[in-house]
Amino acid sequence: MAEALLQVDNLRVNFATRRGVVAPVRGISFQVNAHETLGIIGESGCGKSVTAQALMGLLSPRTSRVEGAITLGGRALHSLSDKARRRLSGQEMAMIFQDPLSSLNPVLTVGFQIDESLRLHTSLNRAARREKILALLGQVGITDPERCASAWPHELSGGMRQRVMIAMAISGSPALLIADEPTTALDATIQAQILDLLDEIKRQTGMGIVFITHDLSVVARLCQRVVVLYAGQVVEETDVQTLFADPRHPYTRALLAARPSADSQPKTALREIPGQVPSLHTPLTGCAFADRCPLAQPRCRAQVPALRSYETASHQVRCWRADETGALL
Ligand SMILES: Nc1ncnc2c1ncn2[C@@H]1O[C@H](COP(=O)(O)OP(=O)(O)O)[C@@H](O)[C@H]1O
Ligand code: SF4
Ligand SMILES: [Mg+2]
Repeated sequence: MAEALLQVDNLRVNFATRRGVVAPVRGISFQVNAHETLGIIGESGCGKSVTAQALMGLLSPRTSRVEGAITLGGRALHSLSDKARRRLSGQEMAMIFQDPLSSLNPVLTVGFQIDESLRLHTSLNRAARREKILALLGQVGITDPERCASAWPHELSGGMRQRVMIAMAISGSPALLIADEPTTALDATIQAQILDLLDEIKRQTGMGIVFITHDLSVVARLCQRVVVLYAGQVVEETDVQTLFADPRHPYTRALLAARPSADSQPKTALREIPGQVPSLHTPLTGCAFADRCPLAQPRCRAQVPALRSYETASHQVRCWRADETGALL
């Protein structure tokens, strides 16, 4: 099989806190191919954003420790110096966030900020950069690129700002884009437009996308494969068809059952699963989902279930009772 664009092996993140060391990401592995969108889904607090920050090299070594292997395009990122790592970020991999306003500088025009990114990641001269800025704004669906380039961030709508962030993210032609809930703050129509835009850019450029979300409808629309995270561990990984047709982990089944009906607000998703994600300060002796799982047995609390194949190697489930969930839940 061809080498994956991004290969993550046994990624673990520890934070030093006043109450001791916590591990919000506990040994997760996944891969992303070019032309592929991998969804990472899970409730708030499951470790999605910390995973993204670890991939991008954004976590401070003073307060955190990142272990495991991250390989992008055959290059081992975990063994690069911080400086070399930062150079790569934004160029070979770029990230977009939920709140574009917090990542845009309010006192610089949109054009100036894209120009900064181009100066950093390309060797284009001033005139070529100007042309490129307008081309990028056009590429992300902005109808009047000239006007947008001279606008201040606060003059743009939320959807426009997210388009600007996408333009900046793709300005260095990254091989991989990490999107951390980029549409969560947008209304449904704008969200759909942004998802279509990302899909179109992926088709044009062949980049791989890691799309982090708590929203299953986004997964259905955009992703080819999905990793379900729970308490910092992968509990299920499969292709998107199987995720909806034959989910095996009780947590995945709960996520699907908690999906809002068509007429309710998507943001209420996941709220209805009883119980909470375990505290980072509680040591886990068995399955992290046991306190919330209708199928929990004594064994579940005593022994941590391993991630194992279910039927095919590409469908992985971390549950002692993966064979039974279809009949019981
Ligand atoms: N810098 C940090 N120091 C200590 N704990 C953190 C830090 N950043 C995040 N966490 C904790 O790690 C857990 C996972 O957070 P996060 O990855 O942001 O979750 P989400 O899946 O909602 O994106 C949460 O319990 C959060 O409080
Ligand atoms: S291992 Fe046990 S507690 Fe955990 S999800 Fe499976 S059945 Fe539920
Ligand atoms: Mg998050």
